[in-house]
Amino acid sequence: MNERDTEHMIAELHEKENYEVTRDSLDADLIIINTCSVRERPVHKLFSELGGFNKKKKRGAKIGVCGCTASHLGKDIIKRAPYVDFVLGARNVSKITEVLHKPKAVEIDIDYDESQFAFSEFRSSNHKAYVNISIGCDKACTFCIVPKTRGDEISIPTDLILKECEKAVETGVQEIFLLGQNVNNYGRRFSGDHEKVNFTELLRRISKIEKVKRIRFTSPHPFHMDDEFLEEFANNPKICKSMHMPLQSGSSNILKMMKRGYTKEWFLNRVAKLREMVPQASISTDIIVAFPGESDDDFEETIDVMRKVKFDQVFSFKYSSRPLTEAAEMTNLVDEEVSSERLAYLQGFQNSITDEITASRLGEVYEVLFEETREGGYVSGRSDNNIAIKVLADESLLGTFAKVKITKTGRMSQVGEIIA
Ligand code: 5AD
Ligand code: SF4
Repeated sequence: MNERDTEHMIAELHEKENYEVTRDSLDADLIIINTCSVRERPVHKLFSELGGFNKKKKRGAKIGVCGCTASHLGKDIIKRAPYVDFVLGARNVSKITEVLHKPKAVEIDIDYDESQFAFSEFRSSNHKAYVNISIGCDKACTFCIVPKTRGDEISIPTDLILKECEKAVETGVQEIFLLGQNVNNYGRRFSGDHEKVNFTELLRRISKIEKVKRIRFTSPHPFHMDDEFLEEFANNPKICKSMHMPLQSGSSNILKMMKRGYTKEWFLNRVAKLREMVPQASISTDIIVAFPGESDDDFEETIDVMRKVKFDQVFSFKYSSRPLTEAAEMTNLVDEEVSSERLAYLQGFQNSITDEITASRLGEVYEVLFEETREGGYVSGRSDNNIAIKVLADESLLGTFAKVKITKTGRMSQVGEIIA
């Protein structure tokens, strides 16, 4: 979502103020740091980065802080780093050209102005287009700061989304990547009077746009994975067969403390249903270890889910206490040493699963959309089920589809040969 917000800011700055993107920060007249606040470490990193930029920047260059940490810390950022010229919250990115001219502006109010939903045209990829379908989050996961920084969940009107998709494919993009905190809760609330369209129906409508070749989305919430949604996922050939299912914990006990709204059994039931419908689907997840009160047995439940599901990819994090969250009040914290041990064990456990899965793919054939050049004369892309594959080829392959046989497997990327 931050990447998409960044694209919008680049477009606005280009159209209204004639800015161009530079690769070298020393050459920049304006330096913007678009921040995350989900865990504590990036927040610390923000202040060290700011200090560095302040020392190195060109004379007169402005520095702005945007995104979730801007929403959360607001004017305190300017108190701590007085050379910062403006602070712009995650919900206020459309005001980028306004704050540029207001010294020490702090714009972090959460507003519901629909005119800000339409994003300006700049895309960092020629082949894939991010499209926001909702903003904010209505859940109250006790560990998560996002509902405080990005506000209530509002669905973007369907006709606006369809227009964005159409515009993107007219520029040659083949893949539409839908973004939202809870994409499959789409349509529950609009800020104006709009036709009520749910996520399944939205997927159907987008797939009717002829030039859309692939549809991906992130993140769906396991709680909202009803049969209707899974059936559309399974049967719509334009929907890529890779699903991100953020588990967070395998212990029903901890899931309750996290207020995730589902149990271990529900999660496993949804995975089973998905696997029955789409055996080749890849499934990735997010896991938090050492949430307050997590016992050895709770942790073992998480490992048990990993053992049963065999996720293709796991993004794992140590619990990080965040201000403004319910969990920040909890006192039964897990010892730092135990947290580190659990994270290391979990990552090692997943590595062996990943190795097993990747090794089994040797010789398999996948349809790949090529998106980027890589070092050593490679061009890389992704299969429908999200396997990153690179082949030795020239740039003319970019933006095309080809059938690729995997000839060498590895944990991070697979090497293949084009067969058709
Ligand atoms: N501590 C650790 N990880 C967190 N995440 C969200 N909040 C926290 C937190 N307080 C993780 C979740 C989420 C991912 C984007 O970040 O796993 O799915
Ligand atoms: Fe955070 Fe939960 Fe909303 Fe995801 S669903 S953004 S984890 S509150």
